[in-house]
Amino acid sequence: MENFTVYNPTRLHFGGNIINNLGTTVKQYGKRVLLVYGKGSVKKYGYYDHVVSQLQESGLEIFEYSGIKPNPIIEDVEKATIIGKQNNVEVIVALGGGSVIDSAKIISLGIASNENPWDFMTWKLTPQKAIPLVTVLTLAATGTEMNAAAVVQNHSTGQKVGYVNPLMFPKDSFLDPSFTVTVPKNYTSYGIVDLIAHSLEAFFGQGEPSVIDQITIDIIKDAIQFGPLLMDDLTNVELRAKIMLDATLALNGLTSYGKKSGDWGVHGLGHELSLLFDTPHGASLSIVYPAWLKLQKNRIPKRIIKLGKGLFGVDTVDETIEKLMAFFMKIGSPVSLNEIGLSDDSRSSILEQFKKNNVSGMHHNLNEVDHKKLVNFMLFQ
Ligand code: NZQ
Ligand code: ZN
Repeated sequence: MENFTVYNPTRLHFGGNIINNLGTTVKQYGKRVLLVYGKGSVKKYGYYDHVVSQLQESGLEIFEYSGIKPNPIIEDVEKATIIGKQNNVEVIVALGGGSVIDSAKIISLGIASNENPWDFMTWKLTPQKAIPLVTVLTLAATGTEMNAAAVVQNHSTGQKVGYVNPLMFPKDSFLDPSFTVTVPKNYTSYGIVDLIAHSLEAFFGQGEPSVIDQITIDIIKDAIQFGPLLMDDLTNVELRAKIMLDATLALNGLTSYGKKSGDWGVHGLGHELSLLFDTPHGASLSIVYPAWLKLQKNRIPKRIIKLGKGLFGVDTVDETIEKLMAFFMKIGSPVSLNEIGLSDDSRSSILEQFKKNNVSGMHHNLNEVDHKKLVNFMLFQ
């Protein structure tokens, strides 16, 4: 087991009607609120009205920034930061999925400083403060509701950067599973893939504490058991709750106890696909993970077989990979570049992008020869 330090200050509020405490919770951080949300789903399905009435009942003044896109971009973060500063907001409420919450985390750093928030994400500057962030999650996937990470794209520099800073832990996160019943089938499936991928990134990280291996495998097993049921019954709140809790547990730090780090190579590769082709995050991962496992087949067979045994009761690397791929296909997430409309023509641009950003894992290094093999697997698996 590796040495490790644990810190997670986010207060999680989970369950039906839990949002009724939102106004009083936000009020303790300030009166002037920046409400950040996405492209309109929250208005269409009534979550926006629910949140606004909660905030108004507590006498809070609301300013807004909307239009955050999936695979969020730094331009929106910059614009929202300006609006927040102009109106002297004291607290942010992020209403949405990972893209909205991640953007809000960087906005919270931007508002508390006079710097360009991108300089924080690229480690050019170190932020000293953040304004408080409260989240209302509408999509189970990323775990951002209870971690200190944010991922934002910058097309002018050609980067999708994941940045982690303890200043960005949400103060409070409200998770009402009934807020996720409207997530469409495709994003429901990508969310399940994402939480499984987070568990796998931890599993293949540095350090193999047995109890954490078991917990991690159990999180994935829960998603494998209940994910397909949810895909056939999207408005089932109990199933939504199970997947929502799985997603939070997969990336709130728990699966990294006793580890030096997760691996995160698959996420690095997936982020480059999202940057190039606007591939939804979870879809990029169901394409990359089988390819990465094939690459690692002869390098870490014991570890892969431990996973396969735990998840599927199988005894070989090949069966483990097959079963995982079959699961991704069953829930409707792509497992090849072909399925997202790409062909051999994209090979060189993908390889160039992997090389440019030197994509590798924290535990299992990847070089240019590996990149080539990975793209082959992704094209033809
Ligand atoms: O924009 P709106 O209209 O809100 O629609 C969104 C969006 O189109 C829609 N949606 C969200 N909640 C809904 C809903 N539609 C109906 N009903 C609801 N209740 O879903 C679409 C996708 O939303 P998005 O926020 O992009 O999805 P997700 O939560 O999967 O977030 C993905 C982003 O998070 C990053 C990814 O890289 C990606 O940019 N990640 C963040 C991590 C973190 N902070 O720890 C870790 C992850 O590995 C990941 O990298
Ligand atoms: Zn992810």
